[in-house]
Amino acid sequence: MSTKTTQTAKIAIINGPNLNFLGVREPSVYGAATLEEINAEISAAAAQRDVRVQFFQSNHEGAIIDHLQACYHSGVLGIIINPGALTHYSYALRDAISSVNIPCIEVHLSNIHSRDEFRHKSVTAAVCLGQICGLGYFGYILALDALIKKQKKSNKKNNFGGTK
Ligand code: DQA
Repeated sequence: MSTKTTQTAKIAIINGPNLNFLGVREPSVYGAATLEEINAEISAAAAQRDVRVQFFQSNHEGAIIDHLQACYHSGVLGIIINPGALTHYSYALRDAISSVNIPCIEVHLSNIHSRDEFRHKSVTAAVCLGQICGLGYFGYILALDALIKKQKKSNKKNNFGGTK
């Protein structure tokens, strides 16, 4: 019997508007790391956990919605999303997250509750398992661990990783 560990499933990491500008954009708020550097950290963490991740970023609401629907069709088992400013007003994005019915965690690099008042409200968080904010890129790693733990707990056959 083989004890080889296989990477069986995918977690989608989705970033919304202006997050491609990390590193340039308000480093005092968002840090100095670029999105590529953050994604490399997430990839390394995913590899350690034997989980397959895929990355998507768009500045366009419709493209993110199309990608969420593609995640459904391709059998993605978990989603980590930083919707950027769409968080605060996009009912279309909220409906898309709700529609695909894939466990989803909302992440923000900054603490949205300690910033401008319009950032205090998230219209998307209510259709997510939860929200992590204010912890920088580490929030994505925590979200990864939370999705893995939840998946293991639900004890489904089609799990994120595991041994065969
Ligand atoms: C953000 C917070 C949002 O308010 C802002 O519009 C962003 C980034 C964050 O990661 O802290 O684009 O989602």
